[in-house]
Parts: sequence; structure tokens; C-alpha cells
Amino acid sequence: MSAQRIVDPDLQQSDNEDGLSLRPSKLSEYIGQSQAKEMLGVYIQAALKRNEALDHVLLYGPPGLGKTTLATIIANELGVNIKVISGPAIERSGDLAAILSTLNEGDVLFIDEIHRLPRYVEEVLYSAMEDYVLDIMVGKDSQARSIRVELPPFTLVGATTRFGDLAAPLRDRFGVVIRLDYYSVTDLELIVNRTASVYNTKIEKQASMELAKRSRGTPRIANRLFRRVRDFADVKNDGIISLDICKESLKKLGIDDDGLDYTDYRYLKALIETFKGGPVGVESLSATISEEVSTIEDVYEPYLLQEGYIKRSNRGRIATEKAYKQLGIKYYKGLFS
Ligand code: ADE
Repeated sequence: MSAQRIVDPDLQQSDNEDGLSLRPSKLSEYIGQSQAKEMLGVYIQAALKRNEALDHVLLYGPPGLGKTTLATIIANELGVNIKVISGPAIERSGDLAAILSTLNEGDVLFIDEIHRLPRYVEEVLYSAMEDYVLDIMVGKDSQARSIRVELPPFTLVGATTRFGDLAAPLRDRFGVVIRLDYYSVTDLELIVNRTASVYNTKIEKQASMELAKRSRGTPRIANRLFRRVRDFADVKNDGIISLDICKESLKKLGIDDDGLDYTDYRYLKALIETFKGGPVGVESLSATISEEVSTIEDVYEPYLLQEGYIKRSNRGRIATEKAYKQLGIKYYKGLFS
């Protein structure tokens, strides 16, 4: 593994470094994702009006776009408790049963990385989601029997970066499926300004624009870059984030004009120099840059694809002319590009 990436949207632990919550708690404070917000607003109001549990919600999209934040907002707006668990942390169906049995009526159970739940655990969820019952096996061998436990109506909010990896029976049990997209620069600018006011920090308009531009469409990255730039501003500029301080610190952090960092460069360099611009399979790229295939697919590539640095074909990844330009390498139009 490489050193920690400052633009890694997967890193969550530093989101709340000094105890100040950057997470909005109401739908009206949540910036961007207007379609998701509008739909959720209606479904939440309808559930409240009918005094019913909200239907199960699946949130999917690249990391760092606010899936956990939305789940928390859903619970807040419904006025219920939320229990947060992560798919890979649940190893036995008993673990899930134990959590489900603590839920009160209408509560939200948030399962992050739901695609990583073991299959036999996932199967326990089916009846819990559909009929609010748990079928648990007790006893061993010839004594084994299944007992049925009733659950209060609850809302499962699942989050995943890999919609396609969910088993169809699980996918089909979500009444509401919402895809989160990368944020626009304008929305990220609003988020940076909101963060600045939470931290009581002065930031020049052009500096917040610059941060927004270099945050790969991802609020988690915008907030992390904000904190690092604020460190530079505190030490070198009386705490005011000017455009100059912003540019200087981002340069020191190795982040280019478009928010690409050294890991993106390593990826693009391997694609262009080692594999002549592609097409090349992701496994070969993974071996060359020593990053896991899943990390490449979930973390690096979505943004490179969206920004047009690479293309995917059924024969593998291809570097575009834009990638050559960004790396300052002369472009030869290949057979497949
Ligand atoms: N902080 C992180 N994501 C946010 C969002 N979508 N809206 C407001 N603040 C945020």
C-alpha cells in the first residue's frame, strides 16, 4: 500500500478531527444532490403523515459523497434513533440478529458497505426487511430448529459503492434506491464556505472556488483539504485563507489543478508508459502500481472516468488525450483510443 492520500475519499476517521461536526443534521442544510433530497423529503413526510416506518432506502455511489450523512439526516427528520453498522464487521448472523432485536419502532438501521455483508448474514435480512421477522436457528444437529422473532417495523438504510455487487434479492427489497453523483464545483464551494463558518475561519471567495475545483466532486475531500489549507493559513497568514495560501499549500500537498494527486499520476503513468495507453486489464494495472483492484475501481477510476482521463472498453482501460496532456506526454492516437 502507498502512503496515505490526502484526496482519498475512503478515509473517514479524520472527518471530525476536532470535534466540530461538519455534518448537516437536516435535509434543508444538506447542499447538492437536489433530486435525492427532493425524493427523500417527500417519502419522509409521507411516512410521518401515515405514522409508518419509512420504506427501506439504498444509497449508492462513489465514496465521500455523503451517504452516512444522509442516513443520519433521515433518522433526524423522522425523529427516530439510528444504529450504524458496517457490512464487513458483521461476521455471524447472530451479530445481526442481536442488533435487529434492539431496534424500536420506526428506528433506522444503517448498514454501510452493505455489499460486503457475508451472504448467510444477508439472508437473515430478507425476512427482516420484508415481514419484520427474524428466523433464527437454535440448537445443534438433530436438535436444530428455527424460531421466529417478531421485530418492530424499522427502516434499513443501506449504503454501497458497488451497486452491481448486491445480490438481486437484497436489491429488490429496497423500496427507495438513490444514486449519489459527484458534486458540482458550485455546490462544493457552498460546502467549503459552510465549513469555513463552522470553523470560524475567514476564506477569500477565490480560495473557496479553488478548493472546490480541486476536490474531485467530493465533499469529504473538500473538507479535508480545507483543514490542511487552514493549517497553513494559521501558521503563515494569521488564519486567513487567501488564494495565495490556498495555492501554495495545495502545491505542497501534491495536488494539481484538477485535484489529481500522485496516486492518480502513478495510475496514469503506468497506463501510458508501461501499457502504451492501453487497452489494459485492471488486474495488470493493479499489479503494476501495487493497489488493490477494488480500490482502483471504487476510488481512483470513477473520477478519472468522469473527467475523461480514461475510458473503459471491454478490452480494458484506455488513456485519453487529456491524460497524456495532463502528464505532459506527447499523444499518439492509438488503434483503440
Ligand atoms: N458537508 C459534507 N457534505 C455536505 C453536504 N452535502 N451538505 C452540507 N454540508 C456538507
